[in-house]
Amino acid sequence: MNVDGQPYRTIWLNDDRASVGVIDQTRLPHRFEVVRWRTVEDAAAGIRKMVVRGAPLIGAAAAYGMALAMQDDSGDENLQVAYDTLFRTRPTAVNLRWALDLMRQTLLPYDSAERTGAAYALAVQIADDDVQNCSAIGDRGQALIGQAWEQVSRSRPVNILTHCNAGWLATVDWGTALAPIYKAFNAGIPIHVWVDETRPRNQGASLTAWELGHHGVPHTVIVDNAGGHLMQHGLVDLCIVGSDRTTASGDVANKIGTYLKALAARDNGVPFYVALPVSTIDWTIENGVRDIPIEKRAPEELTHISGEADNGDVRTVRLTPKDSPAANYAFDVTPRHLVSALITERGVIRQRQGDTHPLSDSEIEVCEPRVLFQLLNSSSWIIDSAIRHKPHA
Ligand code: MRU
Repeated sequence: MNVDGQPYRTIWLNDDRASVGVIDQTRLPHRFEVVRWRTVEDAAAGIRKMVVRGAPLIGAAAAYGMALAMQDDSGDENLQVAYDTLFRTRPTAVNLRWALDLMRQTLLPYDSAERTGAAYALAVQIADDDVQNCSAIGDRGQALIGQAWEQVSRSRPVNILTHCNAGWLATVDWGTALAPIYKAFNAGIPIHVWVDETRPRNQGASLTAWELGHHGVPHTVIVDNAGGHLMQHGLVDLCIVGSDRTTASGDVANKIGTYLKALAARDNGVPFYVALPVSTIDWTIENGVRDIPIEKRAPEELTHISGEADNGDVRTVRLTPKDSPAANYAFDVTPRHLVSALITERGVIRQRQGDTHPLSDSEIEVCEPRVLFQLLNSSSWIIDSAIRHKPHA
């Protein structure tokens, strides 16, 4: 995506081929700054402090972190130390484990003289694949937004509600939930986006609003609790959110507050879509409420807030009484029966049961998430040409 006319990804290998550049997301929307990581510790601190955040980007950042570690010491022992250092940073987004497992498994057979080169090559590949996957998610999701536009007889913009930031800043480029929005907007479909502010880190107000604004997409920031009211008054045509971990049965962990939006959507007959790359699926678990680890972050993120003062200084102030304890749960789980469809790079998966929003047969496959996920995991199946056909016997 472009920032003031210059194309950017959220993470890249610098020209020195020995350090990694990232956009510092803790400084947005008031400052646009790039930082340089030279060590695995830089990468781990960057993920933990949310300099980079968003499930797919956390995965790519961990891969680059492993490459930085190998540059320092490419031995087997350090490979495991780097894995452990990065793995401890954030617990919920499964893309972290996915990328670390892929790096470790690929790098272990190399002898240590060749390992650093192989590590950088794989990290670059993971980042490039993420761009392609998110672009494909955008193409598939654009079709759903196009249907919504037909349903309003092309008479007005399609109103879409999103929560947190699942845009290009949360991935390497394009985004997950915002990719269909960018693709539909670029194709000339009129769109308006309701942006949940997303307390306490305000990824909606700070990041989603910033990136939609830079792309020219009409949007309005709302408080987190406004969505239900808007849906009751017919002001939301569909919701699209991202995911940090989706179980093999289709339960979805995403930013805290997502579950309440899904409940309101179901109560008001509004389609609730979740966009995710296949790397966000945790094949090892079925029950998201029971088994997905939910990150608890520092209470100060809740008791204090930062913003730009009139003189341009960025300041942090306290919001709550000094003695009031605060609990900062960062994610929640939306059970699969509240999800109208999962939009992946390999296909759109609609629930067989409980979906009251019929979607076009040419774009949508109807089946249980578990069944389709098993097929997605097997490279001999092409999902979007129809799960009924296995192209190579
Ligand atoms: O705590 P964050 O900012 O890393 O949480 C991000 C989200 O919850 C996103 O919605 C999710 O990672 C999907 S991103 C493409």
